[in-house]
Amino acid sequence: MDARTILTRLRDGQPLSEAQLAWFATGLASGTVTDAQAGAFAMAALLNGLTTPERVGLTRAMRDSGKTLSWNLPGPVLDKHSTGGIGDCVSLVLAPALAACGAYVPMIAGRGLGHTGGTLDKLESIPGYRAEVPVSALKSITGQIGCAIVGASADIAPADKRLYAVRDVTGTVESIDLIVASILSKKLAAGLEGLVLDVKVGSGAFMKDMQAAEALARALVETAQGAGCMTTALITDMSQPLVAAAGNALEVIEVMETLTGIGVTPALWDITCALGGEVLALGGLAADAADGAGRIARVLDNGEAALKFGEMVAEMGGPADFIERWPDRLPAAPVVHELRAPRAGWVQAIDAHAIGLAVVGLGGGRRRERDRINPSVGLSEIAALGDEVGQGEVLALIHATSETDAEATAAALADAFTIAEAAADIPPLVHQRIL
Ligand code: URA
Repeated sequence: MDARTILTRLRDGQPLSEAQLAWFATGLASGTVTDAQAGAFAMAALLNGLTTPERVGLTRAMRDSGKTLSWNLPGPVLDKHSTGGIGDCVSLVLAPALAACGAYVPMIAGRGLGHTGGTLDKLESIPGYRAEVPVSALKSITGQIGCAIVGASADIAPADKRLYAVRDVTGTVESIDLIVASILSKKLAAGLEGLVLDVKVGSGAFMKDMQAAEALARALVETAQGAGCMTTALITDMSQPLVAAAGNALEVIEVMETLTGIGVTPALWDITCALGGEVLALGGLAADAADGAGRIARVLDNGEAALKFGEMVAEMGGPADFIERWPDRLPAAPVVHELRAPRAGWVQAIDAHAIGLAVVGLGGGRRRERDRINPSVGLSEIAALGDEVGQGEVLALIHATSETDAEATAAALADAFTIAEAAADIPPLVHQRIL
């Protein structure tokens, strides 16, 4: 086999076999496939598209290009993946909730990407939490506690790491086939039995319209199932931040308030129950999604999910008393500035993308991969769609390292909230279920 034959077939729309895709993925991981060949592959895949068997074959091959986990545990191995949004801190609540329900969750998560925050960055705002651990630690902590949220180590899906870097510089990041194979190769390397996908749609999501979100959700479900993992997807709303905060430590506060019951955020609670219900049913720990949602609600309500979260944080290097002492443990920004409504009315639309970019601008996200982030900055008390506000009332609090940064952020967010004279319809949290 050789790269030129594979590339010519892809260029000419001839099908690629599983063996050819496996050869190419192995070559990506080992370096025998050159950057030029990887770029040609990505461009041909983007322009011609892959068939479903090819997408499944590529996903499997990239999954198997590095270490894969296998398990022998008393409960099912389950996970969730979100396509990313603003104030999306669901993983921090859902992983321990699933563990409290008897599942095992080896969650390989990501860092902030573009305007969206990253689960690992949020967790690393907890002093001592170290997300970059070897696969052996992911395995042992998951087995011991029931959940571990970690970064993808270099030996997980190395073919994807290589292809992603090439896509990034060849204008081929947008290929749905390659996005699907990239996301799933890393997730499925963890040896999952069930997966629920949270595909976001709206102003703060990568997919701004329903048609694109549905196409991605269907391709993800079809491919994951083809690769042998029971999977469902929910298309959920991202036309406003999920919680009233955006920024790493500020979102952990929302998580802790919900887990400990001192200030439940309804959207975070509801989406955690909906996604958790789906995957508990897939794993045989619930009769159906509704039963599963009820089980998740119970462990959120009775504090068992909070206890699991505390155990995971301690095991990952964070404070042993985080559940009790979290308000003293999280970093806080020195400047808090009020963003005020220019006029009275109802919040009719929110540019969640602009809010995400504002967090990056404050230093809470990365412009380049090597940037260090400031975990304390961001926005809190963000007004929600449908809220009535008076002129000069607070639309959000800006947490910044200086007055200058805070004022620049307020100026950048001047048009992020559309205030109208009448109340708008509030979109549902879950738009569609894809089986
Ligand atoms: N996330 C990934 O892991 N890969 C992509 O291609 C896009 C988002």
